[in-house]
Amino acid sequence: KIVVLDFGSPYNTQLTRTIREFGVYSELHQHTTTAEEIKKMNAVGIILSGGPFSVGDEGAYSIDPEIFTSGIPILGICYGMHLAVNHFGGQLEKVSKRAYEIEKISLNTSSKLFEGQSESQEVLLSLGDKVTALPEGFSSYASSEASEIAAIGDDDRKIYGIQFQPEVQQSEHGRDFLEKFIFNICKAENNWTMSGFVALEIDRIRATVGDRKVLCALSGGVDSSVVAALIHRAIGDQLTCIFVDHGLLRKGEADGVVETFSNKFHMNFIKVDASERFLSKLAGVSEPEQKRKIIGNEFIAVFDDESKKLEGIDFLAQGTIYADIIESGTVTSQTIKSHHNVGGLPEDLEFELIEPLAALFKDEVRAVGAELGLPEEIVRRQPFPGPGLGIRVLGEITEEKLEIVRESDWVLRDEIKKAGLESSIWQYFTVLPDIRSVGVTDGKRTYDYAIGVRAVNSVDGMTSDWAKIPWEVLQKISSRITTEVPQINRVLYDITSKPPSTIEWE
Ligand code: XMP
Repeated sequence: KIVVLDFGSPYNTQLTRTIREFGVYSELHQHTTTAEEIKKMNAVGIILSGGPFSVGDEGAYSIDPEIFTSGIPILGICYGMHLAVNHFGGQLEKVSKRAYEIEKISLNTSSKLFEGQSESQEVLLSLGDKVTALPEGFSSYASSEASEIAAIGDDDRKIYGIQFQPEVQQSEHGRDFLEKFIFNICKAENNWTMSGFVALEIDRIRATVGDRKVLCALSGGVDSSVVAALIHRAIGDQLTCIFVDHGLLRKGEADGVVETFSNKFHMNFIKVDASERFLSKLAGVSEPEQKRKIIGNEFIAVFDDESKKLEGIDFLAQGTIYADIIESGTVTSQTIKSHHNVGGLPEDLEFELIEPLAALFKDEVRAVGAELGLPEEIVRRQPFPGPGLGIRVLGEITEEKLEIVRESDWVLRDEIKKAGLESSIWQYFTVLPDIRSVGVTDGKRTYDYAIGVRAVNSVDGMTSDWAKIPWEVLQKISSRITTEVPQINRVLYDITSKPPSTIEWE
C-alpha cells in the first residue's frame, strides 16, 4: 500500500487513482497522520502531496517529523518536498507569486528514482517556493529555467522530492516518476485487482457478519447494486434487499432491477410499490426544494416502515464509495461538500453499518459489478438523481407529465444508443418545462408541451459542458419524440454549460 498524505493539493484524488492504475493499492490520508499510524497500515511508501502553503507560514500544515526517520520510502511533491528539505536542514526561498507553468527540465538520471527516464522533458512545474540549498546527503537531479533545483533525492534514505506534478497530463512522462517510485524504490507489488478485491471483501464480510442478517436499500444505481451483489455473493440469503419504487424512475428501470436481483440473482428481495404514496405527498407542490425534501423524507419513511416489518437484522449495507468519503472531508484536509448518501437513511435505525465499497473509486466499483456478473445497463448506468424524474418534471408533478418524460427519455436513450454515442456522453435525459406552445400536426392546430433535451459531459458533475450531439442525431430525436409522444409538439436543446446553469433543471 502507498499512503498519500494530503497537504491540500487539488490533484490528490487523481494521484491516488493513478497509483491504483499501476495495480498498487493507494489511500489518501490527512496530513496529521502519524508515522506510527502509517506503519500500522503496512505502507511500503509515502507520498507527501503539494499544497497551498509555504513551509513555516502561520497555519501551514505540518508533518509528524518521525515520518522522515520511519525508514519507509518517501516522495515529496512541491510542498511535500519543501517539508523534507526543511526537516533535514536545507534552505528554501519564499516566492510570493504562486503558479504552475509547463517547463522543460534537464534530468540527471544517476539516481535510482530517475534512472532510465528521459533526460529532457516537459513537466507542470510549481513556481512556488524554491529549494536554494540542499540538506546534507541529498543531491539535485533536475533543473529548469525557473527552478535550479527541481528534483532532489537521497538513495540511501530513499527520500525524494520533485518540484512538479507527476500525475497530470501536462507532465509528459510524469507517470514514469510514480512508477519508478512505487516499483523500484518502494518495491510495491502490483496485486491490486478487482477480482482480488472481491475475494478479499467476501472473506471480510463473512467474518464481520457471521450468521447474522444484513439489510440493503437498493436504488438500482451503480453503487447500491454492486453492494447488494457483493454481499449476496458473500452471505446469500442472510441478505435482504428493499427496493423502493417511488414511481419517479425512468421507463423500464424498476422492471430491470426486479429482473436482475429477484429473477436472476434470486435474492431475498422486497419491492415496495410506493408511487401512489409519493405522488399524493407531491400533489400541488411546485417549489423544487420542497419537492426534493418531500421525496427524501418519504423515502426514509417508506424504508423505515418496511424495515420494521423484518426481524433479527443487525447490519445495514450502504453503497458509500471513496469519492463520498473524500468529499465529506473525513480523510482529507479540506471539506468540499458534506455528503449525504442517497435517500439519507434515518439516524435512529438501530443497525451497524457495512460499507464494503468505501475504498473504491467509481470506475473500480463498475469493474467489481462486472466481475460479479451485473448487467451492462446497471454497471454502465449514467448518474441519476435520487429524486429521479421528480426534478425533471418542472413544477407540479402529475402522472401524465411523468409519462411524457419517461417516453421522451426512452426515445432519447434509444437514439443515442443507435448512434453509438452511449459511452461518449456522460449524462443525457429529457426534461419537461411547464411550457405549451402552438404547433401544427396533420394540418390541425395543436397547443402542446415542449420538451427539453439535456446532454452533458463532465468528470464529476461539479462542472459540465453541453454535449455536441450531431445534427442528424438531434433531427432523428426530435422527429421521433414529436411522433411517438403525442403530447409534445416542440423539442428544445439545452446548450448551457455548468456554471452558470446546473445539469438538472431543478
Ligand atoms: P446538478 O443539477 O447539481 O447535478 O448540476 C450534478 C449531478 O448530480 C446529480 N444530482 C443528484 N444526485 N441526488 C443525487 O444523488 C440529488 O438530489 C441530485 N441532484 C442532482 C445530477 O443528475 C448530476 O449528475
